[in-house]
Amino acid sequence: MAGLPVAIFVGGTSGIGRGMAEAFAHHTNGNAHIIIIGRNKAAADEIIRSFPQPTPDPSSSKSHVPIHEFISADCSLISNIHEIAETLLCRLQKIDYLVLTAGVSLLAMRKETKENLDEKMVLSYYSRWTFIHDLLPLLRKSDIRGGARVYSVLSAGRGDVGSIDLHDLDLKKRYTIARCRSCVSTYTDLMMQKLAKEEPQIGFSHAFPGLVSSPMITSSRWWSPLIYYTFYPFFAFFAQTPEVCRVPTSVFPS
Ligand SMILES: NC(=O)c1ccc[n+]([C@@H]2O[C@H](COP(=O)([O-])OP(=O)(O)OC[C@H]3O[C@@H](n4cnc5c(N)ncnc54)[C@H](OP(=O)(O)O)[C@@H]3O)[C@@H](O)[C@H]2O)c1
Repeated sequence: MAGLPVAIFVGGTSGIGRGMAEAFAHHTNGNAHIIIIGRNKAAADEIIRSFPQPTPDPSSSKSHVPIHEFISADCSLISNIHEIAETLLCRLQKIDYLVLTAGVSLLAMRKETKENLDEKMVLSYYSRWTFIHDLLPLLRKSDIRGGARVYSVLSAGRGDVGSIDLHDLDLKKRYTIARCRSCVSTYTDLMMQKLAKEEPQIGFSHAFPGLVSSPMITSSRWWSPLIYYTFYPFFAFFAQTPEVCRVPTSVFPS
């Protein structure tokens, strides 16, 4: 008998990731192993408390006991992601859903991490590549219909392959907000296409959610709230809530 579905939400403590984690918890009635990864423990605890609580079955085997848990990590450091993946490879038997939404606003300026990469590029692209790459052995073991799903929410189709400078892939020489946005969009499009060819038993999706009224819109730069509230009627009309933009439950088949 197949074990309970296992789903990981990197960036599930807020906004779109939170909406997707909640959708998944309700879709499965809490009967799943749900792992939220981020830094904000208080937010994660509150989200997990709101999940439907399954009734434990004492006769269940270990892989049938629902677990809802939080792993605290700064995903702007690749070394931290390798560490998490190593732990998960030891603890889990499979992964069915890997949802990648951690990020900072695309309007944020370049910020160098101690690994000498831009924080925004790491969260939007490098960290997501690393999660997928390191967790592939567990994704391959998924036993759900149609195979495991990997879902990256960023800006599908908004890049421009022609503008990629192969001698400056990490934008150390020439960095602008627009170039960064275009690059991480293109890199992700290409990454998902390549992975889909190499791992045909796994579903890879890159999505652009449109304008979503998440904390990202108001917290990126000191002037973001100013713009947000000035144009509030526009945002209120066009922006979707994370609950509405969250992944349709058809992405989470039984
Ligand atoms: N909102 C929009 O209109 C919009 C439009 C297009 C694309 N997107 C993309 O959609 C994705 C999700 O955006 P959102 O609106 O849901 O943003 P959000 O509400 O601000 O959520 C961002 C998430 O990223 C996590 N995060 C940020 N820095 C982190 C770090 N160093 N380590 C670990 N986790 C970190 C945060 O968790 P902690 O605070 O717990 O660390 C939070 O869970 C982003 O990639 C964004 O670019 C959003």
